[in-house]
Amino acid sequence: MKEEYFQYRDNELFIENINLYKLAQQCGTPCYVYSRATLEKNWADINQAFSTQPHEVCYAVKANSNLTILNLFANLGAGFDIVSYGELERVIAAGGDARKIIFSGVGKQHHEIAQAIHRGIQCFNVETAQELSHIHTIAHHYNKKINIALRINPDIDANTHPYIATGLRENKFGISLDQVIPLAKTILNMPFLNLIGIAIHIGSQITSLAPFQAAIEQLLAIYQQLHAIGITVSHINVGGGIGVRYHDEQPFKIDDYATMINSKLRHHPVTLLLEPGRWLMADAGVLLTEIAYLKKTHHKNFAIVDAGMNDILRPALYQAWQDIKPVIRRISEPQLYDIVGPLCESADFLGKERWLMINEGDYLAVCDVGAYGFSMSSNYNSRCRAAEILVDKDEIHIIRRRECIEDLLAQEGILLNEWLEIRK
Ligand code: LLP
Repeated sequence: MKEEYFQYRDNELFIENINLYKLAQQCGTPCYVYSRATLEKNWADINQAFSTQPHEVCYAVKANSNLTILNLFANLGAGFDIVSYGELERVIAAGGDARKIIFSGVGKQHHEIAQAIHRGIQCFNVETAQELSHIHTIAHHYNKKINIALRINPDIDANTHPYIATGLRENKFGISLDQVIPLAKTILNMPFLNLIGIAIHIGSQITSLAPFQAAIEQLLAIYQQLHAIGITVSHINVGGGIGVRYHDEQPFKIDDYATMINSKLRHHPVTLLLEPGRWLMADAGVLLTEIAYLKKTHHKNFAIVDAGMNDILRPALYQAWQDIKPVIRRISEPQLYDIVGPLCESADFLGKERWLMINEGDYLAVCDVGAYGFSMSSNYNSRCRAAEILVDKDEIHIIRRRECIEDLLAQEGILLNEWLEIRK
C-alpha cells in the first residue's frame, strides 16, 4: 500500500481521508475498499515511464473487473486486455472503447470470437493454429478483416509461482518459437486476417527484469524473421506480469522496466502494448474483516475472522503472503496468531504466524488485495460475496453491494419449484 494514501493517524488506519474503522462500522465486513488516488497514481506513473515510446496500456481486466474500476480506467484513456465474453461486456458496460480491447486467452470459444468481432475490438492475441482458422471463418462470415497478433511462447522461466508462470514450453500458453513463422505464412493466405502484432505474457508477479529482457529479445528475433518474409507488424505486446512488493520482495522499478524495453525497441517502428493488471491495482485495495473469535490452543493462537478463502483466495491457492494490519492499533503485548476464516478447510487462512495486538471484535485490513482479490472470490460454503467500496478523498462509494441470501438462491429457487411441481 502507498504510505501517502494508506496510513495510521493517531493509531487509526485511513485510506485517503476515510477512517477505516468508521467505514467498517458503517458498511459492514468483509468488504473490499479501494483507493481511487492510488489507482490513478499507478496509471500516471506507468504512462510517464513509457512516455518517450508510442505505447498503449491495456489494463488486464481479470485483476479487478468491477464496473466502476473499469470506468475509472476507461476515463483515464486505458485500453483493456480481456479473456472472456464476460470481460468484454463488462468493459463495454463500463464505457470502455471496444477499439482499445485486446482479446487474449488460450480457449476463446466460437461465440466469444463472434461477439468480439461484432463489438469491433482492436485485436485478438492468437494462441493456436486452430484458433486462427476459427477466427478466419467467423471473420469471413461477417465479411470483416480482423486484426490479430500471435502470442509467442518464448520458453522462458519467469521465476514466479508455478501456477502463474506462463512462458515455459510446458505451459499451455502461446505458440512455440519454431511454429511462429510457418503459421505467419499461412496467415498470408487468409484474406480476412491482418497480422498486426506479436505478443508475449510470460507470467505474473515477476520481480526481476532478466526474464522480461530475454523474452523481448526472442520477440524481436521473431519481428526480424517476419520482416524477412514481408510481414512488418505494427505492435509489440509485452503482456503483463510486473511484480509488486507484498512482503520482502524487491521488484524492479517501473522506470527501469521502461528503460530496458525502450532500449530494446528503439530502432523498431512499433507501438508498444502493455497488459498490466496487478501493478495497477494490487496496492489500491484492502479487505476489511472483523475478528469473530480468538481461539487459543496448546499449539497455536487463532484469530478467526469473518473473511475467508472464498473472499481472498491467494493465500490458500499460492501460499501468498498478504500483509495484515489492525485497523486500530493497540498498545499491548503482541502475540503470534494464524489469521483464519470460517470455511471448512484448513487451507482457509489469510495469514500465518503474525505478531498482532488484537481483541475479539477488532477489525483487520488485509493489504494489497486490489488485484486478484474480489475477482477470484466465490460463494464457496454458500457465503455471500463481500461488498466493494471506492474511496475518493473524503467520499465513500459502494461500487458493489454485499450479496444477500436472495442473490445466493436466485439461480436455483425457481428451478427447485419447477422440480417439485413435476414430482407432485
Ligand atoms: N495478460 C495476460 C495474457 C494474462 O494472462 C495476465 C494474467 C495479464 C496480462 C496480467 O498479468 P499481471 O500484470 O496482473 O501480472 N491470480 C493470480 C494471477 C494470475 C494472472 C493471470 N494472467 C494471482 O493472484 O497472483
